[in-house]
Amino acid sequence: MRLHHAEERPGDLAARLREVRDEIDATGTYRHTPRELVFGARVAWRNSNRCIGRLYWRSLAVRDLRYLGDAESVADACVDHLRHATGGGRIRPLISVFAPDTPGRPGPRIWNEQLVRYAGHPRPGGGVLGDPRNLGITALARRLGWSGGPGTPFDVLPLVVQGRDDKPRLFDLPADAVLEVDILHPDDDWTSLGLRWHAVPALSGMCLEIGGVRYPAAPFNGWYLGTEIGARNLADTDRYDLLPAVAARLGLDTGDDRSLWKDRALVELNRAVLHSYDRAGVTVADHHTESRRFLAHVDREQARGRAVGADWSWIVPPISGSATPVFHRTYPSTAERPGFVLDAEARARARGAGLV
Ligand code: ARG
Repeated sequence: MRLHHAEERPGDLAARLREVRDEIDATGTYRHTPRELVFGARVAWRNSNRCIGRLYWRSLAVRDLRYLGDAESVADACVDHLRHATGGGRIRPLISVFAPDTPGRPGPRIWNEQLVRYAGHPRPGGGVLGDPRNLGITALARRLGWSGGPGTPFDVLPLVVQGRDDKPRLFDLPADAVLEVDILHPDDDWTSLGLRWHAVPALSGMCLEIGGVRYPAAPFNGWYLGTEIGARNLADTDRYDLLPAVAARLGLDTGDDRSLWKDRALVELNRAVLHSYDRAGVTVADHHTESRRFLAHVDREQARGRAVGADWSWIVPPISGSATPVFHRTYPSTAERPGFVLDAEARARARGAGLV
């Protein structure tokens, strides 16, 4: 409230504080004005110490859906969110805010960590088909009645949405709401690798916290940074673990770590990601540009008298760190509010733990 008034000067702070105190006395909570909600959501992004993409925090579009709390309406609105955020490939940063937690009545919850996630299917002989990260939520979806999808490495999971006063329920995402990109290399034939990834990273498990009010269902998205896909999702050994397959495709000697085959495979995989998103007309950032933009953000904020918090190990890209300017400095890392919070329960829900 005070921050909102200090930065945006919406009117009489003392009067608004009195109003809020009265509302809290009467109901145990208070409702944000639409402007407070928009400001709070944007500042929550500004305060996200792990996010390198914060230069555009003011451009976050906010959908005020606080009147929605039942599973079906939330799921439908998530589909609309994806359609609007995708913008045919011109990704728009967007947040949809559903009903808050209130005393005695929790708001809705989206169990998936992101609106679009690929299933992890345990293989009969051991190992995983798909994304091992999502084994838990995949098992939960099956317990709730999901058929398991077509059985490819990239089966889009249904949403698991828990409405107010309800248990979690399944909702399929219509195929036309999920834009995906085939990952192909600019100068080699990678079709046999069969790689793809989705266009929009929409985090749905984090709680938006503004002025003491918690919005547990508030999915938000920006656009991808190529390395999230090429250096982590497709490359990490506990995710798709594709460096050996990529190295084989490139004809590299994988017998000796000192041949740097992993490093070379990483670079080519990341080239393929950027090339493929570009070719498909889907917004994607590269780590060099995004690093420069982040430091522009730090400078701009400092000029306004605000220090930018950052978590070094998240801000520095997972490849070529020292070739980007964000590597060569330190940052304060205090957690500010408003903010996006991932609590232990949400983490457990996204692993499919608890219930059923
Ligand atoms: N790292 C996550 C992923 O690969 C997405 C996190 C948010 N990323 C973003 N560009 N807004 O799916």
